[in-house]
Amino acid sequence: MFQRLGSAAAIMALALLGGSGTAAAMPEADARAAEVQRAPVSTGVLDVAHRGASAYAPENTLAAIDAAHEHEATTVELDVQRSKDGELVIVHDTTLARTTDAEEVFPDRAPYNVADFTMKEMRRLDAGSWFDSAYADERIPTLQEALQRLREHDMNLLLEIKSPALYPGIEGDIAEALSNAPDWLTGARAGGPDRLTIQSFDWMSTKRSHDRLPSVPHGLLGLVPEDQIDDYAAWADQINPNHTTIDADYVEKVHEADMEVLTYTVNNADDMRSAIGMGVDGIISDYPDVLRKVIAEER
Ligand code: G3P
Ligand code: CA
Repeated sequence: MFQRLGSAAAIMALALLGGSGTAAAMPEADARAAEVQRAPVSTGVLDVAHRGASAYAPENTLAAIDAAHEHEATTVELDVQRSKDGELVIVHDTTLARTTDAEEVFPDRAPYNVADFTMKEMRRLDAGSWFDSAYADERIPTLQEALQRLREHDMNLLLEIKSPALYPGIEGDIAEALSNAPDWLTGARAGGPDRLTIQSFDWMSTKRSHDRLPSVPHGLLGLVPEDQIDDYAAWADQINPNHTTIDADYVEKVHEADMEVLTYTVNNADDMRSAIGMGVDGIISDYPDVLRKVIAEER
């Protein structure tokens, strides 16, 4: 697992990086060099851009997905919730106050719960200026829009069901949305990471999602107590804890149960090295470029 770019993409990348001719004209040796330069780092550690490349663009927007692509991330993590009228939307907080101008646009709608706004209302919101005025045109994307952008970039998705207790039945809504996008249900491509993984801090929600989408790997966010790991291994594929809460022994116990560990949110190179040293299978970071370099160093 954990390989993404094929040689065609690698060749095109070298051409775009300033090579003189087209990809088709590139000598075979150069093409191989391009693959080495551009291919995903292959220590077996998956790189995941947290909320998109959220250090470089407003989190959970199409711009953040684009930034993750520009920084050569393999996989993007996004948070999904549901609008008042049932649209699946990509946003982290359960209120709109921090990452949009909802308080200005709708001054009498406190406390600005995501669940209280229709998609049409959310479309009016600026989801980028809080980060930088250059992103004033960014909107809260729908799940379908995010899937389409990821598809265009040939990237994978780690989808977090955020606060599902606020959205009864959201697991079924996600499953239905994905039934209209079956390319996301195909599992891993040859030698590559899983196309889609679903995770949540709410492990009952994760189980409901697993039951609706058994072909999709599912992860438990947070720290599963060691004496419960084997029970969850009956259906879950990953345990995804905060990196400050684990050590190599814990990772080994998860591996013994035939599950993987993806750890979050690791933004410091030394912490990335430390997580790799623990044997984790993936790292979730706001800085996919730093992560990629560290993984390459540790190879
Ligand atoms: O994917 C892990 C991470 O996203 C969990 O925390 O708060 O950023 O959603 P949070
Ligand atoms: Ca998240």
